[in-house]
Amino acid sequence: MGQGIQLVVKLKELLEADTTLNLTPRNVKRVNTGKMKSAGGGLQASVHKTKSNTVVKKAYIPNANPEDDAYVKYVKLISEHQGNPFFPRIYSAKMYQEDPVEGAELGKVYLVVHMERLQELTGKKITDTAQELIRSLGINGLTDNSFDNTASRFSIAEETTNPQLRDAIFLMEPLFREFGSDLHVGNFMLRLTSTGPQLVFADPFIN
Ligand SMILES: Nc1ncnc2c1ncn2[C@@H]1O[C@H](COP(=O)(O)OP(=O)(O)O)[C@@H](O)[C@H]1O
Ligand SMILES: [Mg+2]
Repeated sequence: MGQGIQLVVKLKELLEADTTLNLTPRNVKRVNTGKMKSAGGGLQASVHKTKSNTVVKKAYIPNANPEDDAYVKYVKLISEHQGNPFFPRIYSAKMYQEDPVEGAELGKVYLVVHMERLQELTGKKITDTAQELIRSLGINGLTDNSFDNTASRFSIAEETTNPQLRDAIFLMEPLFREFGSDLHVGNFMLRLTSTGPQLVFADPFIN
């Protein structure tokens, strides 16, 4: 029995592990995603499937100082709160700086994140799932504007019956204030679990 208790403690430590990231850029010639299949892409990032049902997200970091970038700050935050199911699970995050191309002074900087594969919340098929999700969170609804200002964020935090959603909102609040919300339907994602769909904040901030 003693062993059982020890196991539980260790698993909890794993879940809450302080995975302090070393985000000092490593110099490389090119960040090449090779022949990896695409899982999606946006303005900043390209996302690639791995063979093990995970993805690798290559995010361009435009900021002259990568430490000040919204997505870099978000990945740091969620790495410290991996026990919160509203945040994506990340397995590693590394920063790279490419050699400058001819004529350029500085090479491009990328944050490469190995993370869990999530499902999109868009498309007709998903409407029922989205409804189930909103019901389960005890909120009135979720729109492209739900996180646009402090008042609307706090009203969701107050409304919800899910304490982990409340925690996630308060943890993100400083970054919402610094960068603004980019939480439209394309930047929420879903984790499908045996107990139902889990909302995940995939890409919450304007860069
Ligand atoms: N963890 C993931 N699993 C599967 N697809 C993803 C994942 N993260 C992102 N994607 C896909 O890639 C797209 C772009 O990713 P996103 O994180 O929104 O970056 P950005 O909009 O900054 O380029 C998403 O809209 C989605 O289609
Ligand atoms: Mg996006």
